[in-house]
Amino acid sequence: MNVAEAVVLSTEPAYENAFVTWFASEALARRREPGQFVMVHCSSEGCDPFFARPFSYHRVDGDRFALLYTVVGRGTAWLARRQPGDRVRMYGPLGRGIRLPRDRANILLVGGGVGIAPLVDLAETAVSRGHQVVAMMGARTSAALLPPGAWPKEVEYVTVTEDGSAGLRGLVTEHVGAYLDWATKLYACGPAPMFAALADVLRGNSRRMRPEILMEERMPCGWGMCYGCAIFTRRGVKLCCKDGPRFPLFDVF
Ligand SMILES: Cc1cc2nc3c(=O)[nH]c(=O)nc-3n(C[C@H](O)[C@H](O)[C@H](O)COP(=O)(O)OP(=O)(O)OC[C@H]3O[C@@H](n4cnc5c(N)ncnc54)[C@H](O)[C@@H]3O)c2cc1C
Ligand code: FES
Repeated sequence: MNVAEAVVLSTEPAYENAFVTWFASEALARRREPGQFVMVHCSSEGCDPFFARPFSYHRVDGDRFALLYTVVGRGTAWLARRQPGDRVRMYGPLGRGIRLPRDRANILLVGGGVGIAPLVDLAETAVSRGHQVVAMMGARTSAALLPPGAWPKEVEYVTVTEDGSAGLRGLVTEHVGAYLDWATKLYACGPAPMFAALADVLRGNSRRMRPEILMEERMPCGWGMCYGCAIFTRRGVKLCCKDGPRFPLFDVF
């Protein structure tokens, strides 16, 4: 884990209420695994808000990295106001990231809402290693979808909206079944109800692909000191920040 002041390169709107901020920091960008995260101090000085906020690596390019986030409270609102040249205190990379299969795989990514953030980094890494990737994103409505241009061109991007305003209609987990014969590995990130629905879909004959998820529990410290992110799993109590955020789906749901 490194502690650094990352320099803001740009902040751009990504979709409804969501932003992408690019940072420069060799210490934070190098040697991360997809699925790992950084803890961001969302205050210019002092300690308000006191706790740093966790964000997944969304994209990494050499010494630069991007975070994709929705504005939900004080920390994310502060982040969205950062201008090029601003310095932001962070520490990372943290947590257990994703180890892609060694052999070429057909990888299905399933993202709910801003849970899509780490799946873009994962897709870019997977494509660069020769894997086939289908990425599915579920959102409430078309304005809340990540634009197709955010993905590498090799990725097939499938969108699902609850109101049917773009892509398929319904919940993303209702459409996962169409890809299960094709997929040999599945990774997902999103809210807990999405994971529970995914487990119901996969519980039958799709256990063989050993689906893995990235959990987004509240994380006050991010590195195993406060026990604020403890979750119950089939292998006992685990810390989401240190033992995760990657977990086998069926260990938790
Ligand atoms: C490992 C990890 C990776 C994450 N990656 C991303 C990411 O890439 N992009 C992104 O937008 N968000 C991500 N999150 C969630 C992000 O950390 C929170 O949205 C952020 O801390 C909110 O800070 P805030 O000060 O703006 O909001 P607060 O004022 O702290 O809270 C505002 C609202 O958001 C809710 N909230 C806060 N944290 C969480 C959480 N972890 N899960 C669900 N609801 C929460 C609160 O209950 C409250 O209703 C991640 C969380 C974890 C644990
Ligand atoms: S966030 Fe403190 S132990 Fe996990």
